[in-house]
Amino acid sequence: MCGIFACFIHGSDTLSEREVAGVLLNGLGRLEYRGYDSAGLCLSRSSTCVCSSEQPAVQDQFCPRLLKTVGTVSVLRELVDREMSPGSVNGANGRRAKCTDDSRRGSCAVGQRCGTTHVGIAHTRWATHGAVSVENCHPHVSSAELEFVVVHNGIITNYQALKEMLLKKGTRFESDTDTEVVVKLIHYLYSTLLEAPSESSRKTASASIPFEKLVMHLMRHLEGAFALIFLSTKYPGQIVACKRGSPLVIGLKGEYNVSERTKGGHFSKTDSAARITSSKLSKGATASLSLGRTRNLDSEGRGHDELNDSTQYFFASDVNAIVEHTDRVLYTEDNDIVSVRSGELQVFNVTSEFSYENEDEQMVVPNRQVSTIQMELHEIMKGSFPHFMKKEIFEQPESIKQTMRGRILNGSEVHLTGVREHMSDIRKSTRLIFVASGTSYNACMASRQILEELSEIPVIVELAGDFMDRLCPIFRSDVVAFVSQSGETADTLDALKYARKHGAMCMGIVNVVGSSISRLTDFGVHLNAGSEIGVASTKVYTSQIVVMVMIALELSADSKNKSARRIAILQGLRELSANIEKTILLVDEHVQRIADQLADDRSILCFGRGYHYATCVEAALKIKEVAYIHTEGINAGELKHGPIALVDENLPIVVFSSMDLTAVKVQSAIHQLLARGVRQRLIVVCSESDTQMLELVASREGVDVIKVAHTVDCLQSVLSIIPMQLLSYYLAVARKLNVDCPRNLAKSVTVH
Ligand code: F6R
Repeated sequence: MCGIFACFIHGSDTLSEREVAGVLLNGLGRLEYRGYDSAGLCLSRSSTCVCSSEQPAVQDQFCPRLLKTVGTVSVLRELVDREMSPGSVNGANGRRAKCTDDSRRGSCAVGQRCGTTHVGIAHTRWATHGAVSVENCHPHVSSAELEFVVVHNGIITNYQALKEMLLKKGTRFESDTDTEVVVKLIHYLYSTLLEAPSESSRKTASASIPFEKLVMHLMRHLEGAFALIFLSTKYPGQIVACKRGSPLVIGLKGEYNVSERTKGGHFSKTDSAARITSSKLSKGATASLSLGRTRNLDSEGRGHDELNDSTQYFFASDVNAIVEHTDRVLYTEDNDIVSVRSGELQVFNVTSEFSYENEDEQMVVPNRQVSTIQMELHEIMKGSFPHFMKKEIFEQPESIKQTMRGRILNGSEVHLTGVREHMSDIRKSTRLIFVASGTSYNACMASRQILEELSEIPVIVELAGDFMDRLCPIFRSDVVAFVSQSGETADTLDALKYARKHGAMCMGIVNVVGSSISRLTDFGVHLNAGSEIGVASTKVYTSQIVVMVMIALELSADSKNKSARRIAILQGLRELSANIEKTILLVDEHVQRIADQLADDRSILCFGRGYHYATCVEAALKIKEVAYIHTEGINAGELKHGPIALVDENLPIVVFSSMDLTAVKVQSAIHQLLARGVRQRLIVVCSESDTQMLELVASREGVDVIKVAHTVDCLQSVLSIIPMQLLSYYLAVARKLNVDCPRNLAKSVTVH
């Protein structure tokens, strides 16, 4: 929920503020699926002497610009177009600033190490605290002079207490948000930590407490989940971010070195940029990533770092906003503070001990790795499709292939490295618990039966929120799997931390590489479905089922009596991509026609059982989410226990037929429905080989049959959900709704 983005661009004197705003807007656009109630940005430009990373001398600082609005990123773009003229360089004269700091002149070739820095932060909001209004939009500011400005993703749970404290100190608030408390608090801490310096000293560009240290003090007061990015006129040209519980990724662009510094601040090692992808900073050393700076020796052999003209950093809630700039990223961890000061990026981690003495020791330099993201820009573009949701539904023949790539050897053996390495522990476990939310939970439900059948271990599927509400007893003998597209869902993440605390072995089944869940689990399987941008999950659902089926196969690899069953499933997996393609072709136009007929309905019921219980629940979730039609997914076995009272000749009903042990029971449910006059409004989804069902409905005029390709029972739900994904999509289109950004929703639910 909420997307945050920031950029640091050094070296371009002629870059206009509209161009910098353009970079911010593009970044926000890529994060818009995380929230789209309102959007805002703040940018500023300064000319800075960077011959010393400790004390940058600011030559000129231009007034930051703040723009925010209710509505989507495109509304913000219109505002930017109106408010920022294309050529404006924020009042600058386009000339590179010269170093005028007399105390530095001796060691600085005037003008050569000075440059122009653009910093900007931006936010797209999914409202949690406070209504959707301009006052509640981010960025939030500490004062009309924009002394501190912040964007935030997450929730500050103790904001009321902090607000009361600040109100007593005379602080005024303009919004109802928890985030405004953060920015007011940092300003308050700044004033108190500087021990009330004189107004003139406060106005000096280099404040006497480093920005990152100020943020460390702030973090001590905050509870809840947050990724925060700050700008400040007190610290021109700097960006400082911190995180706990919410995701934050840093993109690194330009020429740079990875350097390790000793405590004294001298470089002891420099790797070439070519080796950066595998470089790891050593633990415990006072090291920093020294990026964007080249080290030169002056005539007396003293080293000076010069900022490279092309240095750029990007901060974002996820890599989607970064991939168009660079493929090199750094994933931050909880309690990290990331600072860009004088073009140098530094990462610190705040320790749990706190005292006002030995502050430096409370900010250790952690082990962090620069990774290369394996993502292409086209993955996050709609291409020729009108919506991401449609693109992602149609991508499933390919996304399924990617999920299986390299994992089915010689067509007959599943190889999931992480699962294999932990096989003996899994086999010893007394139960397998799958924890997830929403669609990911439904995928677990769709896979439970085959997991139990092949592993012969009891499988429990838990909704992450409910699991935590009950504080479900967890034992060291449990293996707990956390299934998530984003890898950031707060409920699921909490459950993971809880299971770890209780000593369970934790497995991640996650789509987003580098996400919190993938990093906190002991081992796991990445879904490799590619970026999913549409808020309604489609291709990831089918990949999740495929991964869980593969896990079931891996867990039964040694079982001789299951060999025939395993061969049939492996055959089904090999043919799955082609069968998805065939199903899309079979159903697409037909479903579009059905959507036109149902577009004005207020309610739909979906029934299924066995493997298709999950399908009917997932179908209902999709229709609710994007078409805003009340739809319920009900176990067909429950029909007679209550829901049948809802049934009349007007209510549209979808039934999923299976060709397994449940077939006869589903047919019986259909008889019960037909007996209540449901005919013109009955839709049956079945395999094209389901002759029994086809015969049953053939004689009933008016029943609409959607035929999908046929596969093995445990994979049939992958095919049966496709017409329902399309139905929800076409219903939303017919109802003229915003398919990719359904109201009140956000893709990554990082709040409770
Ligand atoms: C529905 C949907 C949500 C998510 C749920 C969990 O289409 O996308 O129900 O499935 O919020 O999200 P992840 O899988 O990211 O943990």
